[in-house]
Amino acid sequence: MTASLSAEDRSQRLVDAVQRALPSDATVLLRLEGRELVPVAGHGVSPDLFGRRFARPLHPRLDILCSSDGPVVFPSDSSLPDPYDGLIEGAPDLDVHSCLGCPLRVEDELVGVLTSDALTPGAFDDVEMRFLEALAALAAAALRTSDLISALERQARHAGLVSRDLMRNDLARRGGLLIGQSPKMARLRHEIELVAASEFPVLVTGETGVGKELVVRALHRGSPRSDRALVYVNCAALPESIAESELFGHRRGSFTGAEEDRPGKFAVADGASLFLDEIGELPPSIQPKLLRALQEGEITPVGSDTALHVDVRIFAATNRDLREEVEKGHFRADLYHRLDVCRIQVPALRDHRGDIPLLAGHFADSARQRLGTGPIRLAPDAQELLTRGAWPGNVRELENVLSRSILWAAAEVERGEPVIVRASHLASGLADPPATIESGRSRAASPGSWKRPALLPEGMTLREAVQAYQRDLVAAALEASGGRWAGAARKLGMHRSNLYHMAKRLGLG
Ligand SMILES: Nc1ncnc2c1ncn2[C@@H]1O[C@H](COP(=O)(O)OP(=O)(O)OP(=O)(O)O)[C@@H](O)[C@H]1O
Ligand SMILES: [Mg+2]
Repeated sequence: MTASLSAEDRSQRLVDAVQRALPSDATVLLRLEGRELVPVAGHGVSPDLFGRRFARPLHPRLDILCSSDGPVVFPSDSSLPDPYDGLIEGAPDLDVHSCLGCPLRVEDELVGVLTSDALTPGAFDDVEMRFLEALAALAAAALRTSDLISALERQARHAGLVSRDLMRNDLARRGGLLIGQSPKMARLRHEIELVAASEFPVLVTGETGVGKELVVRALHRGSPRSDRALVYVNCAALPESIAESELFGHRRGSFTGAEEDRPGKFAVADGASLFLDEIGELPPSIQPKLLRALQEGEITPVGSDTALHVDVRIFAATNRDLREEVEKGHFRADLYHRLDVCRIQVPALRDHRGDIPLLAGHFADSARQRLGTGPIRLAPDAQELLTRGAWPGNVRELENVLSRSILWAAAEVERGEPVIVRASHLASGLADPPATIESGRSRAASPGSWKRPALLPEGMTLREAVQAYQRDLVAAALEASGGRWAGAARKLGMHRSNLYHMAKRLGLG
């Protein structure tokens, strides 16, 4: 555990040593962050594990470990789900049979958990408790030392920019985390950290679906104005006729329908930040006024003759090449130069493929929470297909394809059972599968009489589509049972009160 090793190396060495000392197939070191356990290093586990975060209330075994005083060996026949079922390398279809773990404490404060899993039942029966206690003490000290050393390393590197990534705030936890550990993503994070701290406008560029909006939110979170609002404007949705009033506000009576004074987005964002999304689509007539607002910090509401001073930090994003738009005469050169003070270019997914397993794990986790399925596993053939994909729609396309595939895979198992996503499910989720997976596609088993729509209906989110489908099924079951809830519940294989609540939520009750 010498200080010259990086934090990752130190944790990895520890895990490797534990793995050698115990008769286990997988060992994982997890750090406690709030109510979640985050994998820091592992041996023998699928790479997508590192894109996942384990909330204590959802994982009873981890929760027990966190509250226990010492090491715990779970009985082989324990019915509690194992957080790593299906995530053990080389055995995606096999469940864990033996599992032990230790809470890691430094001076009574819980800092993380160390777990070891084996596929053979009873593998840990002969392990000495005292030996485990010693291991736990070592691991806790190492985790704490690692954290301290890496904080110091970071401090030294960016004088004063303290490791914010360790202090993820609520907003970050609810989504909006930038996942990825490739050199490209590390560089992106570094740029975000540096640029966020200034008051300069930032122009975020990159292809569609690469995560520009996520980057802007991260910029705002890291900025000196993070405790104020980030006001959002989609420039592509601003028709020329209302753009001026929308951005700068209007006075009562300044045009038909203007019955009240109304502040524009700039006034709302005064003292805070404004996110001009899709700036490349901004109507030409409004561009000189925006330039003035940026240059002088002054805005004039429609129908007013007095200018107001505003103090707004600007973030803008576009998937267009703005320089080209300037050359074509669609975008004013002076406005372009005002916006392009700091530029952050978000890489295309094909340029950081190494992050695909992490992203897949992250999206599988959020799909599980959204859809309420059992644990979601990605079979090796699915992992491989994902890593090879072309992804012209970038991370958003990856997210959509996975969500659709998870839906198909979930339809094949009982509710709450583990969902295994295979290449065949992905093939039906991919709008335009690469030729090499065609054979997988034709072999894809059709889940019963379930009819597969080719794509998510236009203009609908996955959630809306699933709810529409649920609504149809519930309505049909009710109709078939002559409007009786008990009969419908039987047909749907659920409890009457659950059906009733669900129907209410779907607007049927
Ligand atoms: N690195 C990442 N980690 C986790 N999720 C990501 C990442 N990058 C993108 N996403 C997710 O992908 C989706 C698309 O991201 P976002 O909306 O930020 O892209 P965009 O570049 O603004 O796209 P567009 O050009 O179409 O507006 C979002 O659901 C976002 O959460
Ligand atoms: Mg966007």
